[in-house]
Amino acid sequence: MKTTFFKGQTMQTTSPAVSKTDALTSEVMQSFAHATDPRLAQVMGLLAKHLHAFVVESKLTKEEWLRGLTFLTASAAITSEERNEFSLFSDIMGISSMVDVVSQPEGGTPSSVLGPFHNHDSRLRANGSDLTEGQAGDRVWFHGRVVDADGQPIQNAQIDFWQNADNGLYPAQDPDQDPHNLRCKIACEANGSFNLLTIRPHPYTVPTDGPVGALLAASQRNIWRPAHYHVIVSASGYVGLVTELFPEGSAYLTEDTVFGVRPGLVVDFKPCHDAAVAQRFGIATPFLEMSFEFCLAKQG
Ligand SMILES: [Fe+2]
Repeated sequence: MKTTFFKGQTMQTTSPAVSKTDALTSEVMQSFAHATDPRLAQVMGLLAKHLHAFVVESKLTKEEWLRGLTFLTASAAITSEERNEFSLFSDIMGISSMVDVVSQPEGGTPSSVLGPFHNHDSRLRANGSDLTEGQAGDRVWFHGRVVDADGQPIQNAQIDFWQNADNGLYPAQDPDQDPHNLRCKIACEANGSFNLLTIRPHPYTVPTDGPVGALLAASQRNIWRPAHYHVIVSASGYVGLVTELFPEGSAYLTEDTVFGVRPGLVVDFKPCHDAAVAQRFGIATPFLEMSFEFCLAKQG
């Protein structure tokens, strides 16, 4: 006998041939079938289905199940406004990246993980700003354009940019840094162009002092992320883009512990001898140059 669960899906429920595990899975899925939001019914039903399949296939023991609950309890205990262990667990399991991959609109620049250090209150600075402000680090001239799927410039686009400092730390990790260090928003020109002066980013490790760190250690997994810049690109009428750019040649590019590196996001990072740019920023040549064209998909 088949019972309709949600639109387009049916499942076996009462046949004597149905196993005890299938019957239990079916019962749990149906318990969500009358949710007021059909999407909630679908998502929770599928979550139950796949979690049950995991338990069955792995032959999960009671001791292992209890260890899982202990892991979640420890994750909750260490989670705060500044630090989310569940988000980190999602990252190291590749779930955050999988959500990026399946929700990626056609034709746009690949998205990547947001990470834990974005600041909504980042300051709007003039296009062409110098973010280095006397601090240590190799100077990098980062420039590019924001375009649509036809390569036409998008007007009124905005860049939200952040990275770690020469010591590998973000401001949230380093009391000696100004909260706005090496981060800003920039309104692009009418032709979609933008540029700024910043420094070379550095690889860093994810936090290892919590249950996720213990899991990574027990699994003998890499704890490092390759060097990267974070960028959010937005423009009215277009799907917003959350992504990262990875300088070519950075360590850990092929073993990012949060699986954020995508084809198309690894960019040239090369010496530049442009005297006019050097004079504008008051820096010596050669400096490093990175150029990138962000492509946004239209909404709808
Ligand atoms: Fe980061």
